[in-house]
Amino acid sequence: MWPLVAALLLGSCCCGSAQLLFSEVRSVEYTPCNETVVIPCIVRNVETQSTEEMYVRWKLNKTYIFIYDGSKNNSTVEPSFASAKISVSGLLKGDASLKMSKHNAVVGNYTCEVTELSREGKTVIELKYRMDVNCCQGSDCSDEKEKGGCKLASWFSPNEKILIVIFPILAILLFWGKFGILTLKYKSTRTNKRIILLLIAGTVLTVIVIIGAILLIPGENPVKSASGLGLIVISIGILIPLQYNVFMTAFGMTSFTVPILITQVLGYVLALVGLCLCIMACEPVHGPLLISGLGIIALPELLGLVYMKFVASNQRTIQPPRNK
Ligand SMILES: *[C@@H]1O[C@H](CO)[C@@H](O)[C@H](O)[C@H]1NC(C)=O
Ligand SMILES: *[C@@H]1O[C@H](CO)[C@@H](O)[C@H](O)[C@H]1NC(C)=O
Ligand SMILES: *[C@@H]1O[C@H](CO)[C@@H](O)[C@H](O)[C@H]1NC(C)=O
Ligand SMILES: *[C@@H]1O[C@H](CO)[C@@H](O)[C@H](O)[C@H]1NC(C)=O
Ligand SMILES: *[C@@H]1O[C@H](CO)[C@@H](O)[C@H](O)[C@H]1NC(C)=O
Repeated sequence: MWPLVAALLLGSCCCGSAQLLFSEVRSVEYTPCNETVVIPCIVRNVETQSTEEMYVRWKLNKTYIFIYDGSKNNSTVEPSFASAKISVSGLLKGDASLKMSKHNAVVGNYTCEVTELSREGKTVIELKYRMDVNCCQGSDCSDEKEKGGCKLASWFSPNEKILIVIFPILAILLFWGKFGILTLKYKSTRTNKRIILLLIAGTVLTVIVIIGAILLIPGENPVKSASGLGLIVISIGILIPLQYNVFMTAFGMTSFTVPILITQVLGYVLALVGLCLCIMACEPVHGPLLISGLGIIALPELLGLVYMKFVASNQRTIQPPRNK
């Protein structure tokens, strides 16, 4: 009888302080972009100074998947959650969040139970999974390579894809414009070999970019789209030596052609950096960088054409006295 009363008394007088209070988080979600998944569990009124007095248990569907026993400083983990862990040093600040690799993560309601000496409490957090907006829709992304591809391809809206194709095609058309001027105005036995090389290289580039566009635009096959994108962005750099050779064949380097070429190199670097970031990052944030790089590559082609046209029309009047 007396022990019971004592227990009741003790219980009621300690009730106010016997509860651990948790930050209210009802659910968290993860996407294919999360390499690690963190299920938050934050105790707001931890008082102890030693993890030895703490005991943490994580439960999913009535099964304990993770137990940390502070008195032994020992974690016990359910085999299917082998990567699960908590930060022991974070515990004293009240952080009992469970971290695990996304390969172990399963959706469901997780219960975080924390005991600190006689005080205890628990909270339930639902872990949800969200497919990335466009990622993998309509295509089977079971293997990693496809995932990478669909990640890349899904980043670009149809409008962006059109820009990715339009800028290089525009640049190539402008190149052919300059090539036309070159053959009409600067043809001589001295330049013939260069012109043939330009013709071959220009044709190869045109074919590569067209193939790239055919692969990229339809977008139903992620690997194809990603290869198309890679083909276009990488091969478009050929325009720089082409433009250089056009200038050299026509009139050599001048104070106009040097900045034009430098701008084009910068555009290419920007596009390549954009492509690398797109491949490495998970969120679709670097598309604009890639596209502006392509735009900056096209602009010097236009400037080059205008400049060439200008010089060509001037040279007709300048040339006779110069040739004596
Ligand atoms: C997944 O990653 C996002 C962005 O980095 C983050 O905000 C979110 O908390 C992560 N989700 C989980 C469950 O860890
Ligand atoms: C948890 O329970 C739900 C429904 O009861 C079930 O669908 C799910 O597979 C279970 N999860 C685990 C990891 O056992
Ligand atoms: C608990 O063990 C970990 C390694 O498993 C160690 O880093 C940590 O310092 C230990 N903590 C205490 C309080 O003994
Ligand atoms: C933790 O406890 C388990 C079971 O009690 C034991 O098998 C394991 O060796 C212990 N680990 C450490 C690091 O003490
Ligand atoms: C988790 O619990 C909430 C509320 O009780 C419920 O709506 C939800 O369906 C549960 N989720 C799972 C995966 O069982």
